[in-house]
Parts: sequence; C-alpha cells; structure tokens
Amino acid sequence: MTPLIAGNWKMNTTVHQGAELVIRLRELLKGIDTVDVVLAPPFTSIHHLSHLVADSPIKLAGQNFFWEKSGAYTGEVSAEMLLSAGCQYVIIGHSERRTHFKESDEEVNRKTLAALKSGLRPIICVGESLEERERGKTVKRVSSQLQNALSGVAGSAIREVTVAYEPVWAIGTGRNATPEQAEEVHNSLRDLLYEMYGPDAVKDVRIIYGGSVKPDNIDSLMAQPNIDGALVGGASLKAEDFARIVKFQPM
Ligand code: 13P
Repeated sequence: MTPLIAGNWKMNTTVHQGAELVIRLRELLKGIDTVDVVLAPPFTSIHHLSHLVADSPIKLAGQNFFWEKSGAYTGEVSAEMLLSAGCQYVIIGHSERRTHFKESDEEVNRKTLAALKSGLRPIICVGESLEERERGKTVKRVSSQLQNALSGVAGSAIREVTVAYEPVWAIGTGRNATPEQAEEVHNSLRDLLYEMYGPDAVKDVRIIYGGSVKPDNIDSLMAQPNIDGALVGGASLKAEDFARIVKFQPM
C-alpha cells in the first residue's frame, strides 16, 4: 500500500503565500514517487495551485464541500466545483468542522456518499475528545464515527476511502498520540473495516494519523504496522518540515 501524507492548511495562506509554499515544496519533493502527497489549501487557492502542481507528485484536496450539486446554498462549494478546480481528494468530518460548525455524523455520511459518487476521494476524519479518552471510550467513539460515515458505502467503492484518525486532544496542541496509542486505534479501525467489507475489499484502504505530526515524530509513527500515512496541520505550512515528513524513514 502506498503511504499517503496530506497537508491540511486549514484557514491559512493567501493565494500568493500558497503559491510560494507550493513552488518551494515542488523543489523539495522532486522525484518522490513512493508516497502519495496531498495538499488541502483554502478554496481560494486551489485552482491557481492546480497549475503549479502539474508534473509534480502533489495532488490537491478540498478541506470540505457540500453534498448538493448546485443551487441556493450561499457560501458552499460542490464536489463538481472541487473537481473542476483541480482536486482529487476531499477532507470530510474534520474535528474542527464537527466542533465549530456542528457537523454531525449524518452530514459526514452524506458528504462521503456524495464525494464517492462524484469521483472525489474522501479522507474521512474520526477522533475522540480528551474526556472520551480518559473515560476509556476511544475505540467505541471512533468506531461509531467510522461506521456512521460509511453507511451505504458499497464494497466496490471502499478502496477510494482514506480514514484519518485525529484525536481531538492532539490537534494543534503539540501533544501527539504516542505511536503505540495511535497504532492501537488504527488496528481497531482496520478490524472494523474488515468486519464491514472483508479483507480483500479493504486491503488498499489507508488509515492515516493526524495530530501534532512533526519532522521529529513522523519516523516512529510510520514504523507502526497500521499507520499508513499522516494528516499534517501546522507543520504542513513550513515547506522544509512538510518535505521532511513526506521523506519519513520508519525506525
Ligand atoms: P496539527 O498538525 O496542527 O496538530 O493539525 C492536525 C490536523 O488537524 C490536520 O488535519
């Protein structure tokens, strides 16, 4: 399975700043062909960046979208718009959307189905709060998030899905899950996928980790058997740091 390293820029970078970052990354990542590299810039940058990433290993993702095709939904963008701007992937159900914009499991499911139908590859985020972890509810929480997100997703489509495990307490806090903590959750998510779809259907489904991933912890995270990549926030805004993460050396 090819690892996937994605950078989620969140609400950062103007068009100009995004272009500078990608131009630098393109240099640093020249010749990389053993890792799928994905960047999720703000909507306003996507189309411009699509020209800059042509002939590079970098693919683009939306950070969100709305499941309807078009119409009177002020402020939203559709899957078709993301595809036409140059995206191949879309992040769905990030914890910041669940928290700040009250996105529910049901909405995450509708977005997942709509993304798959349109040909966008969903990166579905799941993760527990600190309170849930402390109460021993981590696996239960992330399993129900994933199960709900995948409701109605056919076995023939599941290979297009990437699952991102992002413990909420590890996002932007500098406090990453230990490789062992992440591995335990990834392993249980893998088991759930096997149960739902069977081993053949899910052998290519990547489960990536997000939450304070940095150059100095990526190597030990990627050494875990069930960690297939990373979803990087803060460190993806620094070209050198993100390039080092893409060039991880499992230890
Ligand atoms: P940080 O890497 O800044 O903790 O953010 C993680 C994240 O939310 C990626 O989607």
